[in-house]
Amino acid sequence: MCEPPELAGPGFINLRLKDDWITEQINAVSSDKRLGVEPVSKPRTYVIDYSAPNVAKPMHVGHIRSTVIGDSLGRTLKFLGHKVISDNHIGDWGTQFGMIIYGYRSFCDDAAYQAAPVQELARLYRLVNQLVEYHDDRPAQAIQQKLSETETHLQRQRAVEPTGDKKADKALRRLEGTLNELQKQQGELERNKVTLEADPTLGPLLVDHEDIGQAVLKETANLHSGDAKNLALWKEFLPPCREEINKVYRRLNVTFDHTLGESFYHDRLALVVEDLRARGIAIESDGAICVFFGDDEPPMIVQKKDGAFLYSTTDLATVQYRLETWQPDAILYVVDHRQSLHFDHLFATVRKADLPDLELQHVSFGTVLDDSGRPYKTRSGDTVGLESLLDESVARALQVVSENDDAKPGGAELSTQQREEIAETVGIAALKYADLSHSRTSDYVFSYDKMLALSGNTATYMQYAYARVQNIFSRGKIEVGRLRADPSPIMITEPAERALTIMLLRFSEALALTVADYRPNMLTNYLFELAGQFSTFYQQCLVLKADTAEQRVSRLKLSDVTSRVLRQGLTLLGIDVVDKM
Ligand code: ARG
Repeated sequence: MCEPPELAGPGFINLRLKDDWITEQINAVSSDKRLGVEPVSKPRTYVIDYSAPNVAKPMHVGHIRSTVIGDSLGRTLKFLGHKVISDNHIGDWGTQFGMIIYGYRSFCDDAAYQAAPVQELARLYRLVNQLVEYHDDRPAQAIQQKLSETETHLQRQRAVEPTGDKKADKALRRLEGTLNELQKQQGELERNKVTLEADPTLGPLLVDHEDIGQAVLKETANLHSGDAKNLALWKEFLPPCREEINKVYRRLNVTFDHTLGESFYHDRLALVVEDLRARGIAIESDGAICVFFGDDEPPMIVQKKDGAFLYSTTDLATVQYRLETWQPDAILYVVDHRQSLHFDHLFATVRKADLPDLELQHVSFGTVLDDSGRPYKTRSGDTVGLESLLDESVARALQVVSENDDAKPGGAELSTQQREEIAETVGIAALKYADLSHSRTSDYVFSYDKMLALSGNTATYMQYAYARVQNIFSRGKIEVGRLRADPSPIMITEPAERALTIMLLRFSEALALTVADYRPNMLTNYLFELAGQFSTFYQQCLVLKADTAEQRVSRLKLSDVTSRVLRQGLTLLGIDVVDKM
């Protein structure tokens, strides 16, 4: 593979790939449908649990992030030859149904419900949620408790003689910061209450529905214990709510092999708890059934004192079902980092059942933030709001596409309809790519401008690079079928050709890195570098006007491989390309 090694100063040995070797490899890749990526020798079965919004409840940006990351990991693993089963574990059985059942009985606007059921249910959910929160003292008490603790600490800290010690100083300032933050939270809570009380429609309801918290729990419990009326309402509400989510999936071009929501596991929960007890994994403590993990760790509750089962119980039943049904080698959970304790406990419990070969991964991700560093919220904060997020991105993409088209030296070349179709692809791609290109474990700031920029690490830039190659082909009236069949090989003479080729040969390495720790940004980074390398090549090497016919074919072939790798890579990210922009 390499030229003779060279010593490059103390401690360094340079290895330089032989031009012949590179040339041979790229010609093989050029005629390979899989672009040099060999399927794995030992395929595994992966279950991927992603998206999983709670239906009838505001879906938030985090659910898009989960959807997009999960989808791209699934596509990549499948391309590498693994078996992938996607399962959307939707929340279709939780307290939100108690809320909307209560809301439906107490506040439903029948005409509005007939006209647009999901919107009305979302309104009822928000309304009931507001009332429940108003009457729930626990958050205020928790803040109060922390406030007094912090005050005590602070007094103690202040009483210490000032020593000029930097550490003590820092601790003092940190405590003051905490106190400040808590006071702010307390103030905000208080202000919200006052605003609600002053509201002409909500104000009176607050008084009339004082016990709403309990009532909602009762409705949920009735649903769970099979009450016919609540079950009938649940069956009525579920389809329109599911359809609302499906609309988003259709636009994102995401599908699932299974959508087994929480309700699917309801009948299995009692058995799960019984089984855990029989094996001594769960024990009773203060009336509740818990799994313990050692003295310093809080336990995981699997059944409450009042007999209710929890999120954790459902997840245990889900693992059991997946193992029985699909015998996976790995289960990946693409879920918000705030649930890491839950998954630690879930996995630790499953491990107690001794399954040495099963890989369980919480593929966690950070929060999407707004300009001021707070979790990003859509304007209306509900499912409809989430769709408006897609609409906004597409509208802005249309602007970018139109401006770009208008500025073409030969005049605009796209019809209004073409512009709109391209904008849909570009707008959705920009949203997806923003989620994928940031390291999944970090938070990132949501910005339409940044994600639709024509330069930088964006989908728009990548789609543009792809369209550019198509443009070269159409200007040169190149027929790719004929080009690929041309026996004249790719030859490497210029440094830019060499650099581009090496980049192309690294595609399978990029995919391996992507699945090693389930990080799609490894793939976006690679594609970004590849697009950059192509740009340099295109600046430095004449393609259509190359010196000789052989060189022209060689460079066209290199451009063709680049566009295929870009396209394949983007497809694995769930991103479509366009031929013109
Ligand atoms: N429905 C949950 C939520 O919106 C996410 C579920 C994730 N999957 C799971 N098996 N727990 O927070």
